[in-house]
Amino acid sequence: MRSEEISVKDIDETRQGEALEMTTKTGNGRKLYIESYGCAMNFSDSEIVASVLIDEGFETTKVMEEADVILVNTCAIRDNAEVRVRGRLNIFRKAKRNKPDTIIGVMGCMAERLKTKLLEEEKLVDIVVGPDSYRDLPNLVRVAESGQKAVNVLLSRDETYADINPVRLGGNGVSAFVSITRGCDNMCSFCVVPFTRGRERSRDPESIVSECTQLFANGYKEVTLLGQNVDSYLWGGGGLKKDIIARGDLTGTVSFAELMIMVAKITPELRVRFSTSHPKDMHDDVMYAMAEYENICSYIHLPVQSGSTRLLGLMNRGYSREWYFERMAKIKEIVPDCGLSTDIITGFCTETEEDHQDTLSLMEQVGYDFAYMFKYSERPGTAAAKKMEDDIPEEIKQRRLAEVIEIQSKSSHISNKKDLGKTFRVLVEGTSKKSDEMLQGRNPQNKVVVFPKENYKKGDYVDVVVNECTSATLIGIAAK
Ligand code: SAH
Ligand code: SF4
Ligand code: F3S
Repeated sequence: MRSEEISVKDIDETRQGEALEMTTKTGNGRKLYIESYGCAMNFSDSEIVASVLIDEGFETTKVMEEADVILVNTCAIRDNAEVRVRGRLNIFRKAKRNKPDTIIGVMGCMAERLKTKLLEEEKLVDIVVGPDSYRDLPNLVRVAESGQKAVNVLLSRDETYADINPVRLGGNGVSAFVSITRGCDNMCSFCVVPFTRGRERSRDPESIVSECTQLFANGYKEVTLLGQNVDSYLWGGGGLKKDIIARGDLTGTVSFAELMIMVAKITPELRVRFSTSHPKDMHDDVMYAMAEYENICSYIHLPVQSGSTRLLGLMNRGYSREWYFERMAKIKEIVPDCGLSTDIITGFCTETEEDHQDTLSLMEQVGYDFAYMFKYSERPGTAAAKKMEDDIPEEIKQRRLAEVIEIQSKSSHISNKKDLGKTFRVLVEGTSKKSDEMLQGRNPQNKVVVFPKENYKKGDYVDVVVNECTSATLIGIAAK
């Protein structure tokens, strides 16, 4: 799949195993092949890993069969994400059969979750490396080359890879992901991320601004600031967020809204997006920044998970249905044209028909432009797995998911119809998938807009008048 289709959220459902295309550098000739699954954070991490190994003299390749080292960056968020990785390992097994010296490494969240168990379960794996240990990869590769298994799954209190300049050639050359925090302290009861990515820490704002400045100099026009909970960003000279808060004095710290403004001020020509916001931490200052700076895109992905306050409590989300509605009302007041999307889980432990109806009614009331919708998948080690029973039968989870999807597709269509006749500033990301005569980009609200090419090109900002739509796309023509 092409990068134009990627949303910055959970990509594992949409962008499967795209090999990163990277520059070839002369080195000692060993060839590296990386496949990435999971969220944008993983794709961003693969770019860091490529950088670390290119510095070591590796060349990168898009052809798995010619690789000396195959790395797969994995996701553990739902069981099916892991099943997919096991399927890929079977393919790598064949590559290794033809070229027995090939080193196979598993990195990312599944590596961190399973640790050495992965070596026992998948005999072909030589390296297991967790998200905070990528600097150790040259060493791990050396160990693997000597015929031993190599494992580093240590989580860190301060690693943010701030000084590593990621290698960027997997995307469209127009928009890039920039990590601003790592880890998550939220402990939502269903979620494996706090276990796979460790404690929350923020990256030095100067390194973020300098990376974004460099991206713009290299022709990029859009950055998406990434974190599991971006609203929680807090720079106070390094270390864990909880330690900064414990100091009790926030003088000299940088908040998420302040960081966003620092990035927005680099140049009005650089669009700023972010993902993911958390309803409990989404403060008004972020909305005011969005209203104030035209290049901070009017789009918020605000995962609700469920419309039932009872279930939100069991999920340990830290907010109620009413709180969520209040946040929505505030967004609509401060940023009236804001695009909105969400994540929904159906069939979480004990979910009744009434809870499910609460989710449907919340979705109807909010009228999201877009949503990622999932069936609950129990993850070993999480609070839900330990304390609650995964008691909703598969067919009920499935039926509820189908109902949620149906509401969302109506809602997306209604939202797109409201845009007919409007003009939007579109950042062109490339040629449309359906026709070479058409270009494709996004409006500030993150909707995909397609329009005739004329003389426009990738990276241009074009004002487009919308005159047609489907539930997924706006179709228009450049305004004259
Ligand atoms: N930090 C982000 C979420 C990252 S995971 C946030 O808090 O929004 C992306 C989405 O995957 C979550 O929002 C949730 O909807 C879904 N998800 C997480 N764990 C899941 C599980 N065990 N089963 C099903 N969906 C899950
Ligand atoms: Fe998981 Fe919750 Fe953290 Fe998101 S905020 S990564 S859902 S624990
Ligand atoms: Fe992302 Fe999957 Fe890990 S969603 S943080 S790669 S578990």
